Amino acid sequence: MVLACGGSGSYFYFMMVEIPQILADKIKTAQHVVVSTGAGVSAESGVPTFRGEDGIWKKMNPEELASIDGFMRNPDLVWEWYQHRRKIVSEVQPNPGHFAIAEMENLFPRFTLITQNVDNLHYRAGSSEVLELHGNITRNKCLDCNTFYDEEIDLEAGLPTCSCGGRIRPDVVWFGEMLPTRVLEAAFRAAEDADLFFTVGTSALIQPAASLPQIALRSGAFVVEVNIEPTPMTGHVGAFLQGKSGEVLPRVIEIIRGQ
Ligand code: OAD
Repeated sequence: MVLACGGSGSYFYFMMVEIPQILADKIKTAQHVVVSTGAGVSAESGVPTFRGEDGIWKKMNPEELASIDGFMRNPDLVWEWYQHRRKIVSEVQPNPGHFAIAEMENLFPRFTLITQNVDNLHYRAGSSEVLELHGNITRNKCLDCNTFYDEEIDLEAGLPTCSCGGRIRPDVVWFGEMLPTRVLEAAFRAAEDADLFFTVGTSALIQPAASLPQIALRSGAFVVEVNIEPTPMTGHVGAFLQGKSGEVLPRVIEIIRGQ
């Protein structure tokens, strides 16, 4: 809803995010709140999303850049792409959506944050624990022995290798790979246990992440979707808050604080 108020010939426009009463009521009584985010939550920070008009997968081939076969075929290309994405995420800042989510963990008896994003922006915004379903682009690990490496990669020094001789790769989940078991199990448990579940900035197309709001629904949670446009989940949720997460979520915080 856009409100305009004017005086002496000048007009100021305020974008108001309307929070339905039923959600305001659920917020007041919620015991375990779960937020599950996708690329859209970082869009306002300047991190490209994957699908849609300017989505990464419109210009790049996921088979080449985000699969183990692609990495084995051409590790130089995959590393160059990840170094490029690392540069992007290191140069951007968390946005009001990330900060609102970080604040939420102090406002409910129990809170769980799940993300498909690998950009580390939730941690940088102050979230203390993030179930990172698809890994974290700031970390690396050995393909053979799984040893983690935090050091910066310098491709000019050659492709990185582990002390065991194995190839080092970014610690992200590629297509066709298993998600980290402990993280996925914790995400499923949280979805089953939630009484209020927010699905934020995801196209709700990629499994198993897309099943989390469905599990929450089946377990009786009130599910809220925050997105700039409808998704396959929209018809099933209790409330669809259409708008940018950086605008909608700070408004949700105001409601939680009773303002
Ligand atoms: P997508 O790119 O598929 O979807 C991004 C969603 O964010 C879309 O539904 C947009 O409408 C929405 N969106 C864009 N800007 C927004 C904003 N400012 N506020 C709220 N919503 C906004 O990204 P994901 O659903 O995260 O996996 O994609 C899931 C997975 O597919 C990714 O983790 C990645 C990708 O392939 C791997 O790389 C394994």
